[in-house]
Amino acid sequence: MRKIPLGRSGTQSSVLGLGCMGMSEFYGPRDDVMSMQTLERAFELGITFYDSSDMYGRGHNEELLGKFIKNKRDKVIISTKFGFKRDPNGADGSTHDRDLDNSPEYIRQACDAALKRLGTDYIDVYSAHRYDTTRPIEQVTESIAGLVKAGKVRSIGFSEITGEQLRCAHKVHPIAALQNEYSLWHRRPEEDVLPVCRELGVTLVAYSPLGRGFLTGAVQDTKQLAANDVRLTVERFKGDNLDKNLLLVNQVKAIASARGITPGQIALAWLFAQGNDIIPIPGTKRIKYLEENVGSVNVSLSKEELKTIAEIVDPSKIAGTAETASQAAGRMAAMTGGSSAGSDKLKRI
Ligand SMILES: NC(=O)c1ccc[n+]([C@@H]2O[C@H](COP(=O)([O-])OP(=O)(O)OC[C@H]3O[C@@H](n4cnc5c(N)ncnc54)[C@H](OP(=O)(O)O)[C@@H]3O)[C@@H](O)[C@H]2O)c1
Repeated sequence: MRKIPLGRSGTQSSVLGLGCMGMSEFYGPRDDVMSMQTLERAFELGITFYDSSDMYGRGHNEELLGKFIKNKRDKVIISTKFGFKRDPNGADGSTHDRDLDNSPEYIRQACDAALKRLGTDYIDVYSAHRYDTTRPIEQVTESIAGLVKAGKVRSIGFSEITGEQLRCAHKVHPIAALQNEYSLWHRRPEEDVLPVCRELGVTLVAYSPLGRGFLTGAVQDTKQLAANDVRLTVERFKGDNLDKNLLLVNQVKAIASARGITPGQIALAWLFAQGNDIIPIPGTKRIKYLEENVGSVNVSLSKEELKTIAEIVDPSKIAGTAETASQAAGRMAAMTGGSSAGSDKLKRI
């Protein structure tokens, strides 16, 4: 597997990462045995970047990764996040019971709890999961920088912040990675954060790079999804929107079949073609999907193909927004909050 630098941290990462969220929650029932086999296969295939958060499965995801990294700690990059506080006894998939807290005390506590669940004494990339409008981003960066100084964290990341907020944070301490949603059907990073990442040497970690599975063509009907699947809250997957969007993905499918590849591989190869400083982290709990996704690393698309595909899945042609309700509220807060204290109303996302 090809490697690229992780920001200017001095660490090299596999160019493709593995998103581990769905192994705990949000995309149907979990299966720890299957997930562990998938993690081991990912490692065999050369993936070194594993993405988690303390909120995925209310700690379950970090515990799972803790078991996985036991005999290979120094060979993997663990990216995890803090900020969303959830009731540890709440029901998985109930995404509304969350409060955002990026206070210095909470960040220290969250890091210690994550280290315990992961069974390690350091986190490679520790990221603020969402922008907290109630405090300056500089203060949040200082809090994580304190953990770097203490040897508990190797490098700092953020998720879903703006280019300007990234600049403010980077002035306090170098930021290694910015994790924002980026895919063929969600191109907002190109307008704002990608140029800033390039200027500052920050790696863009592209989350939901398969459009939450949609760009693989596998989601043809929401009846196939579990009742608490988070996609049921996303406009793009609803009713007429889904039908209209399927017409686009079916065109990508036709291009893929003609080349003997899959639409998911096209979606990932398109991301690789956007620059050698982007790490897509497709999520899956299945070896079959993982192997297919890894295959995308060797897919190269011609200029003409890239243009045609980008035109077919042009975001202006997509029906409905890509975000879950909580993501949209978080982004609004990030955009309106600036780098200092913001609206308390938006704190609860
Ligand atoms: N920072 C943030 O706020 C944020 C938000 C969302 C996600 N993330 C991170 O990004 C990672 C990836 O995003 P995501 O999981 O939301 O979306 P994604 O990677 O775009 O799609 C994941 C979905 O696609 C399915 N899938 C994967 N490969 C497939 C293939 N080859 N063929 C058919 N279906 C396939 C998975 O199925 P199965 O589940 O059945 O395997 C899963 O349902 C997450 O795991 C998480 O680590 C971060």
